[in-house]
Parts: sequence; C-alpha cells; structure tokens
Amino acid sequence: MRKDILDYLLDHKGEFISGQKISEDIGISRTAVWKHIRVLKERGYTIESYTKRGYCLLDAPELLTPEVIADGLKTKLLGRKVKYLEKVDSTNNVAKRLAEEGAEEGTIVLAEEQVGGRGRLERSFISPFAQGVWFSLILRPTFLPMEVSKMTLLAAVAITKALHKLGLVESGIKWPNDILVRGRKVVGILTELNASMERINYLVMGIGINTGLSKKTLPKDLKKVVTSFAIENIPVRRQVLLQEVLLQLERYYEIAETEGFKPILEEWKVLSVMLGSEVNVVEPNRTFSGMAVDLDDSGNLIVETENGRETVLAGDVHVRSLDK
Ligand code: BTN
Repeated sequence: MRKDILDYLLDHKGEFISGQKISEDIGISRTAVWKHIRVLKERGYTIESYTKRGYCLLDAPELLTPEVIADGLKTKLLGRKVKYLEKVDSTNNVAKRLAEEGAEEGTIVLAEEQVGGRGRLERSFISPFAQGVWFSLILRPTFLPMEVSKMTLLAAVAITKALHKLGLVESGIKWPNDILVRGRKVVGILTELNASMERINYLVMGIGINTGLSKKTLPKDLKKVVTSFAIENIPVRRQVLLQEVLLQLERYYEIAETEGFKPILEEWKVLSVMLGSEVNVVEPNRTFSGMAVDLDDSGNLIVETENGRETVLAGDVHVRSLDK
C-alpha cells in the first residue's frame, strides 16, 4: 500500500493533493494516508503537508537500484550482478544463501534497509532506509582458507582509499574491521566464510557505510561512537560511493590474487589510526594493554606490552586516545 501512495505522489510530484483525494483515488482511509506519509518522510522523502492544501512530494532519495548501480560502474566483475532488496534482515544472510545456490563471484546483495544488520561479535549494526550503503559481496578466492582474515584488511584498505577519494580524508582503519573518523565509526566490515581445510567455497564480505545518518536520528548510545558523511559535512552520492568502493575492492583483490597480501598489508599500516597508539585488548579469556606496533604477515595485530610482544588474533581492541 505504501508503494501505491509513493507511486501516486511520484506521479504528482510538485503538486499539492488533499488527503481526501488521495484516500479516494487509492481506496484507503485518510488516517492510513497520513500514517504512510509519515513513514515515507522518515525514509528521507521530502513531503510538505498543510492542513488546507494536502500533501506535496518535493524530493525523493535516490535509490540504489541495479540500473543506478550499473550506470557508470567501471569494474569488470564486482557488482556486475546485483540482488536488490528494499528491506531485509541482513544482506549477509541473503548473500550466503545465494552463494550456496551457486551465485557468481562478484555478485552483490544490496538493501536500502536492514532490520537485522549484524556486526562482529554478534553486535547489531543499524542500517536505516537509504541512510547508508549496506551490501554484501560474494567472492570465491583461490587462496587458502588461512589467508582469509587478510581479506577484511584488504577491504578496509580499499574502502578507505575510496573514502579519501570522495573527500573523507580523515578516515583511517582500526584493526580489524572498522573505518573511523576521529574515533567514530563510519564503516563496518563483516567477513563470513564457508570453507573446507584446503579450499574456500565462498566468502561473503558485508560492508556498511554510513552516508546519511544524522546526529538527531542516531540512538543515544551511538551518538558518540558513530559518524557518517552527513555528520562530517561531506556531501556524497551513494551511487558514486558504491561504484568507487567496488572499483577499489576489485583493484586490491586483483593485487592479492597476483602478488599476494604483502603490498596490501603495507598500505594498511599507512592507513591505520592504531599503530603507535596505546590500546586495551579484550580477548575471550584475558585482557591486557600495550602499544599497537605492527601487523604480522598473517594480518594479526602485534602489541608491545610490559611483558613483551603479544599477537592479537581475534580480540576487541580499544584505542585509548580515541575511546569516548
Ligand atoms: C561491524 O561493525 O562489526 C561490522 C558491520 C558490518 C555491517 C554490514 S552492513 C551489510 C552487511 N550486512 C550485515 O548484516 N552486516 C554487514
């Protein structure tokens, strides 16, 4: 029904139409019209409403439909096949299902809204309608499963490069899967794997980039820890951002497949906001502090502590100077 109202308003874009007329033409109550319009406004549609004149659609968010994604896309493989959804629990879930069914490498699953967006360590990831780029990429790399944690580092390098190109020059990488601007998260990456001991069957790389989230709409507990292009005052079009991210991902993926991860890990070190900082590391069975000093060849974080060097494989790492 909301779609009917949207189509109706789009057909009459720029015109005022009374609630009464909309309700008669579509065949729903005036209260229902009002409720649907409120939801559309929350989704980023600019709709003027005056008691005597009715409603007028002035502006609609640009949706990331397959046609919009394809228009100007420069990649050879990534994003050439798109599964587009308006609303989903998590794009990673759909991508895993499609990968099981044999979806081609490079396929992306993109949703305007996720209601069960997931992050690392089973945390939730907020993904409201058209306020970010929420997508999952299916890859079938030929390297060994033990190399896979480096794919998250690869993605972080590629995405940071894209963000810098589009003006978010202060963004940098926090090990292993976040991109931050002055300590606040603008991108999260969730890599999930299906593999045997010797072979990767598929890898799903879920990427969430906050574009339109505003301080006003963020839940209270996230205001200090999350940011977006809008909050940083950097105008960006989601289409252009997604296309650049896919291009950079393809470029670094080709490097990994041909030259290995070494050059990528070197770039990671340059783009990191962590190396040289005091950190607190929380692992399932222990907590310790020290200075993050390096990455090893497997992409693990090396922390210099009072008792010597520690290798962090999977913990939660807090940069003390950035903690809010
Ligand atoms: C994290 O913050 O730990 C990672 C967040 C990853 C979020 C993206 S959004 C698209 C994809 N679908 C999900 O449910 N998660 C990833």
